[in-house]
Amino acid sequence: METEGEQLCKAARNGNVDKVKTLIESGADASYFDSDGLTPLMHAAKLGQTDVIRALLEAGAPWNALSPSNQSAGDFAMDSGHQEAFEVLVYAGIQAELILGTIARKTKKSGDSEGDYLVDRVSFSEDKLMDSDSKAVMMAWEKPLMEAHAKAVCSGGGNILNVGFGMGLVDTAIQQYGPATHTIIEAHPDVYKRMLRTGWGKKDNVKIIFGRWQDVFSQLESYDGIFFDTYGEYYEDLREFHQHLPKLLKPGGIYSFFNGLCGDNIMQRISCRKRTSPMCMGWIYHQFL
Ligand SMILES: C[S@@+](CC[C@H](N)C(=O)[O-])C[C@H]1O[C@@H](n2cnc3c(N)ncnc32)[C@H](O)[C@@H]1O
Repeated sequence: METEGEQLCKAARNGNVDKVKTLIESGADASYFDSDGLTPLMHAAKLGQTDVIRALLEAGAPWNALSPSNQSAGDFAMDSGHQEAFEVLVYAGIQAELILGTIARKTKKSGDSEGDYLVDRVSFSEDKLMDSDSKAVMMAWEKPLMEAHAKAVCSGGGNILNVGFGMGLVDTAIQQYGPATHTIIEAHPDVYKRMLRTGWGKKDNVKIIFGRWQDVFSQLESYDGIFFDTYGEYYEDLREFHQHLPKLLKPGGIYSFFNGLCGDNIMQRISCRKRTSPMCMGWIYHQFL
C-alpha cells in the first residue's frame, strides 16, 4: 500500500496536477522525502512537469530542499534540460529570498543584533579575509572563479568597474587585461587601507572609490565591464544594484556577479550580458561556469 507521500511523488512524476492537488487537500505533505531522499518537487523537476511544480510551490513545497547528492529541484530541472521548469523554480527562489531579505533587514533595523560588517574589524591572512565573527568574507580558493569573472567582464576591454575589493583577486585578474580604466569601489575602512598599503592607489589606470556603492553613484560613469561581489548584503541590495545597470553599463557591456546568498547551487554563478540594442533593454542570464 503506497503512502500519501509516495502517491504524491508518483502523481508529480506523471504530471497529474489534479491528483497532486487532491492529495495535498487531503493532507499529503508537500515536503515529503521518499526513500531515495527526493521530494515530489524534485520528481516533477526531473521530468519538467511545470504545472505540477507550480501547484506544489503554491502548496508550500520547499524549493530549496536538497537531495542526498546536494541537488535542489532547480538543479534537477537544469540538468535534465527543462528550461521552463527551471525558470519557475528560480523565480520561486528569488521571491522567497527577497521576502526573507526584507524580513531580515527589518529585524536588523529594529534590533540591530547582528552588528554591522562595515564598522567591525576584519582580519587578513594569506589565504582569507575574515569578518569579526571569524566568518570568511573571501578565500583564496575562489581565485579561479574570480579569474573567470575577470575574463568575462574584460572581454570587450575599455572601462571596467569592480564593486568589492576583498582580497583583490578579481582586481588582480582584471589588471592582467590592461583595461583603459579600472574603477574599484570598496566600503570597508580596513580593506581600503590595505589597498593603499599594497599600492593599488598608485596604479595608472586604477581609480579607487572609498564608500558603499549605494552612496557613491554620483562618482560613477558608464562601463564596458562590471563585476559585483560584496559581503554582508541582501538580495534586495543586489536587486537594487541591478536596477542601476541600464545606466552603469554601456550598450554591449558585460556584467557579472558573484553571490553566496543562495542556499543551493542554481543561482551561485550567474552572469548577464546587456543586449546591444537600446530598444531591447532586457537581460540574458546564463550559467557562468
Ligand atoms: C567577497 S569580498 C570581494 C572579493 C573580491 N571579489 C576578490 O576577488 O577578492 C566583498 C567585498 O565587498 C566589500 N563591501 C561590502 N559591502 C560593500 C558595499 N556596500 N559597497 C562596496 N563594497 C562593499 C567588502 O568590504 C569586501 O571587501
